[in-house]
Amino acid sequence: MKIALGSDHGGLNLKKHIILHLESKNIEVTDLGTYTEDSCDYPDYALKVAKVVVEEQFELGILICGTGIGIGIAANKVPGIRAALCHDTFSAHASREHNNANILTLGERVIGVGLALDIVDAFINAKFQGERHQKRINKITEIEKKYSK
Ligand code: RB5
Repeated sequence: MKIALGSDHGGLNLKKHIILHLESKNIEVTDLGTYTEDSCDYPDYALKVAKVVVEEQFELGILICGTGIGIGIAANKVPGIRAALCHDTFSAHASREHNNANILTLGERVIGVGLALDIVDAFINAKFQGERHQKRINKITEIEKKYSK
């Protein structure tokens, strides 16, 4: 599995912990920035990760900002991206199983590192369950098509 990661300055520290955690499990990770604590704009990194996930260069993405909210809103503007903000493990696996989420978003200022790593594990180990859920994903895709210019 290949995972693309991105964050703004507000998510930089948690992103470093997640990268070390995934590398310790021999999961291939690519960090698309930001790389410094300088203030930056979360939509820039949301777009970098959303692009490579929707182009299927990476199976999943993980995006982190201060709250996980802004970076998730931005990523969800890319058609085909289903970014899920999860601050508990149940939501993390359900977002994959029911919503076929392809990006996990997290807020470094909201949860601790230990919980964040458990959430990451729950997200990457879960599988989309298809069937009735696919029908609902198809409806999301129809909404995207209707409002895309
Ligand atoms: C940056 O200060 C902060 O606004 C950002 O990381 C994020 O929380 C936005 O949703």
